[in-house]
Parts: sequence; structure tokens; C-alpha cells
Amino acid sequence: MKRLLSILCIGLLCLASCASPDTTEVTSPDGRIRLVFLLDDGGRLAYQVEVDDTLFLSPSALGFQARDGVNLSEGFRLLGTDFAEADETWHQPWGENKTLRNHYREMAVRLSGEAGVRLTLRFRVFDDGLGFRYEYDVPGVDSLLLTDELTAFRMARDGTACSIPANFDTYELTYRTLPLSGTETANTPITFRTGGVYASIHEAALTDFPEMTLMNTGGTVFKSELAPWPDGIKARFEGGTFKTPWRTVQIARRAVGLINSSLILNLNEPCALDSTDWIRPMKYVGVWWGMHLGVESWVINDRHGATTANAKRYIDFAAANQIQAVMFEGWNEGWENWGGNQRFDYTKPYADFDIEEIARYARQKGVEIIGHHETGGNILNYEAQLDKAYRWYVGLGIHSVKTGYAGGLPGGHNHHGQYNVRHYRRVVETAARYHTTLDVHEPIKDTGIRRTYPNMMTREGARGMEWNAWSEGNAPEHHVMLPFTRLLAGPMDYTPGIFDILYERAKKNPARKQWNMKDSKDCRVNTTLAKQLACWVILYSPLQMAADMIENYEGHPAFQFFRDFDPDCDWSEALAGEPGDYVAVVRRAGEDFFLGAATDESARTLRIPADFLEPGRTYLARIYADGPDADWTDNPLSYEITERRVTAADTLHIRMAAGGGQAISFIAEK
Ligand code: NOJ
Ligand code: CA
Repeated sequence: MKRLLSILCIGLLCLASCASPDTTEVTSPDGRIRLVFLLDDGGRLAYQVEVDDTLFLSPSALGFQARDGVNLSEGFRLLGTDFAEADETWHQPWGENKTLRNHYREMAVRLSGEAGVRLTLRFRVFDDGLGFRYEYDVPGVDSLLLTDELTAFRMARDGTACSIPANFDTYELTYRTLPLSGTETANTPITFRTGGVYASIHEAALTDFPEMTLMNTGGTVFKSELAPWPDGIKARFEGGTFKTPWRTVQIARRAVGLINSSLILNLNEPCALDSTDWIRPMKYVGVWWGMHLGVESWVINDRHGATTANAKRYIDFAAANQIQAVMFEGWNEGWENWGGNQRFDYTKPYADFDIEEIARYARQKGVEIIGHHETGGNILNYEAQLDKAYRWYVGLGIHSVKTGYAGGLPGGHNHHGQYNVRHYRRVVETAARYHTTLDVHEPIKDTGIRRTYPNMMTREGARGMEWNAWSEGNAPEHHVMLPFTRLLAGPMDYTPGIFDILYERAKKNPARKQWNMKDSKDCRVNTTLAKQLACWVILYSPLQMAADMIENYEGHPAFQFFRDFDPDCDWSEALAGEPGDYVAVVRRAGEDFFLGAATDESARTLRIPADFLEPGRTYLARIYADGPDADWTDNPLSYEITERRVTAADTLHIRMAAGGGQAISFIAEK
């Protein structure tokens, strides 16, 4: 594994300035964020946070409730506090940034509770926020049943928050912008502005715990609400020890500071894999969108998408267009019962999909195949075939799999409960053993696990492109909301890049049938064409899809952007933006740069200095802009492509139509 860890400074420092014996505090390295731990007379736990000497979180409860008389929240006594500071630089095989700095001050508060309960509360405070986790040790018990988490986030002031409502089964919901005080429940990341500060609450390193959602318990006070097991228990453990995921609060002066923060990754464990040279970012196309539009089908019939002939057509297209991989859905037996009693078979291709011949053809053309495992939610059926399925794919040379969980889980389990978190983890570990990368749809939310398992490359976990095929679709603000909310958690397989925005070609196709419940005759993509290109940059995914049917790209001048685009970036920066309004992001891949900018339903022009370019070099900028008459509502296909030479001394004027965007490739001149 190519991970260089250079710990510049780590040590135990007794730097505490203790205001009273039961109050202890730690500040961020730059001193701007101050976290105070508080223990009251009843031995109850709390913390408070100040930012720039202003109260940000008022004293907020900590602890858990458990069954069988185990007390995890009161009667605690302070045993001691250990302080440490770390400043290390680490590297990852892929990511928005391949080199990251992990710089924090840690305060580990050691406590003793009733009946010998031990608790270490580990707080880490960074310049860009904070995280804390619970490490419990309950002696003399065979198991632990947690019934509630008491962790609270008591915002000192009201503010404006962007979030989706809490839901234990899906994240595919529409974002809302509401006052904090008017936000009844939220899934995380919830991003908000309060008192001139931007912040986002989420979690890191969710490996064996239910997901955390937030419930408003009055005013601007939020409390953790964990996704339960069917019997109401929130988390269960063998034995008496458990560690929670980190509860995180990212904090920034500018909204884009949240995007540029790597706090979530920094709180995850280092890479657990021996080698990562088999993992690489890829662009891909796939037999996919035709199914969602109804011109093809997953199930074998006269409209079947995953046929040998169609597969070869896609492989040819990928090989001719600098696209590394092709994905096929609906290739295996079981789609007949999708939505019913699914019994997908992961090693039985449909009769018209000659997978051995397709794999041979792909290999010959130098194209990778991304396999597909839809479970329909039947994880028991999937787990029974897990090893066999991954081994079988590897035997065919397939080292990348898209999974899916569209459907209810057996036994009434929640998608986001501990039971299923364990399942997702099992799949990541199995895939890693088979040197296979993953793209998970209907996933558990991202909490930075990719640092530990870089084969866990991308996932869905929000409303993606598919919603435009069969619903009112994603509004123009959705794409400028995602980078400030969902994508703070990690990469997203949104699957951008639909060129037939109004489905004009699909609607003319006589084979088209509606497979879905909703009348989709008025469906469309709610952006301009240029914004579709911009989304390839803005919506970071190391596996980045050009999602349209390939016939819509053939001969289209704007597809040159995807041909040039390199998803294997080394460095990224969000340059400008406001949640739900607009965003501009630049990424460097090798010597070249790619910029994506997008706006909501308002037209706007951004003035962006090109000082991210390497000084002294000249770049050929190919600019894919909205046409002067473009508008997402009635003229979404109007675009223009211009070229000019640009240096770091230039300023870009990025003009975007209503619902539009702009994409620029900066190719370094030799
Ligand atoms: C939902 C996934 O998000 C989508 O990409 C996939 O095509 C369908 N499930 C079928 O597996
Ligand atoms: Ca989905």
C-alpha cells in the first residue's frame, strides 16, 4: 500500500486550563474553536462549543440509555483527562485531494460510572470543526442493548438549515431550506448558517452502529435519534464494550470551507488494505438510462437492454471515447420478480447476455466491466451468494460492482439500522478480499469509510438522475445543494450527463413503455445542457458516469468535455458558492484542470480568478457555456463552446443561464 504517514508532532501534553475540577477544555490548533466538557453534580455529561469567543453550542447532553439497569448517562466521576496534539500528512490512492493534513488537538476524558462502568469521551478539535466519540466498557455483562442516544446539539442561536427529513429507509428525498427552529427532523449531513458561521453536523466511521438522525426537541435543540431494530432496540453488542462513530460538526467562515474540509476522512481509520494499486478512478457509460426511460427493459424480453450485441456496442463506444468502463444492468436472472419476492441469481446471466464473450471482447478492447448486483433489499439472498458471486465475477475479469437495495429488507429491518450497517460492511470487506471496487445504490450514508477501505468508491444516497426519468425530477437548486450537504459525506454516484434533456429521442422511440407507476409523459431533466457537463466536476465521484444512452453522445461536440475529463484528480478546491444557490469547483488531474460551475433557477455570472492554475504556464481553456439565449425551462439545449489561452493571472467571468452552468477544461500547453 502506498500510504506515507508522516507524524510531525504527536504527544501527550497536559495543557488543560481547568476552570473547575469537573470542567475541562480543549481548543483547535488555531485557537478559534473552544470545546468545554462539563460534568454536573449528578455526574451527568455535557459539552459546549464556542467559535471566535461566541457561544455556538450551549451546554448539550451526552450519554446513552440502555436496558437491564445499565447506566450509561449519570453518576460519572472524572478519573482524568489526557491531551494530545497531532499534525500529520497522509495520502490516499484517490479522492478529491490525494494529500491531506490531519491537524487536531485531542482531549480524552476518562470517567467512571455506576457498577464499574468506564467511559472515555474522546474529543478532537480541528481548525475546521470537531468530532467526539464514546468508548464504553461495562464489566460483567454478556451483551448490551442501547435504547437511546442522548447526544444533543443545542444551537446557541437560530439559523438557516439545509437538510432532508430524517428517514430510516431512504435518503432519496428533496432538500429543504428552513430555520433551524423550524426543522423538525433531519438526516445528516445537515448544513446550516448561524451567527455568520457555516456548519454541518454528520458522523464519521459508521461501522457497527445504527445511523444517527436528528430530532428537534424544542427551539434550536437537536437530539440524536438512532435508526432502530424492529424490536425498538437501537444498538446491540456482544459483551460490554462498544465504541460509537464520531459525532462531527464541521465549521467554516465561508460555505465552501465545508466542502474543502477533510474532517470526516481524518476521523476515519487509516487504510486497512495491503495494496491499493488495483483501485483506480474510472469514467463509465452503461446500459442503464434506457431502462429508466422505458425504451429498454431490465427483464429479458424484446426490449431487453443487456444483450450481447448492445454490450459490444457500449464497449466499442467506451474504447473510442477514452472511457475506461461499461456497466450493465438487467443481465442476470431474477428481474422477473423485482418488487416482489426477489431471488436474484448473481451467477446466472440471461440467455441473451453471453457474459464470457462480452468479457473477452471488453478485455480485447481494453475496457473494464462494472458488474451489477441488485438485491431488491433481499440481503439474505445476497449474503448467501456473496463469496460465490464475487469470485465468479473475478473469474471473468470483473473487478468493479454496482450494488442496489431497492426494496424492503427481510424481517422488517430498517435500511439504516445497525443490522444493515453490518451487511454493507460485510460486502465492503468481501469485495476487498476479491480486489473489487464498489458503487453502492440505496446505501448507508457515507461516513468516510473509503479511507479505511478505498475499494468503497462511490455510492448514491440522495436523489440521483433516475428521479428525472419517472417523477417531477430534481429541481435546479438540487445540484447546488448536494455539494454542501450530501457530498460533504463523500462521493456520490449521481450519474450526470443527460444530453437528451427533454427526452425527445426517447419519446419518439416506438419501443418505449412505461414501466413505472407514475405518468412520466412530462418528465425531463431540469437543467441546461452546460450544467450537465458541470455536474461531472461538481458532483465528485471517482467512478463518474456519462449516464445517457450513447446514441445521444455520438457526434455531439459537447461530449468532448467528458472525453478530456479525468476523474483521477489529485487536488480540488471549491472556489465559490452558497448552499442551494450556486457553486464553482476546480479539480487538478495531472497537469490539467477541470472547472465546473452551476446555478439554481437564477441566472448569474461569477468572477473567478484563475490563480489556481500553475503560475507561469499557459493553458488551452475550452469553455462549455450556456448559449446567450439558454434557459433551463424553455431553451435548455442552447450552448456554446469557445477556446482561449489562459494563465493564472487571468480572471474568468462565468456566465450561467437560469438553471444553467459552465464547464471548462484547462489543458496545459507543453
Ligand atoms: C435504483 C438504482 O439507484 C438505479 O441506479 C438502478 O438502475 C435501479 N435501482 C435498478 O437496480
Ligand atoms: Ca436509487
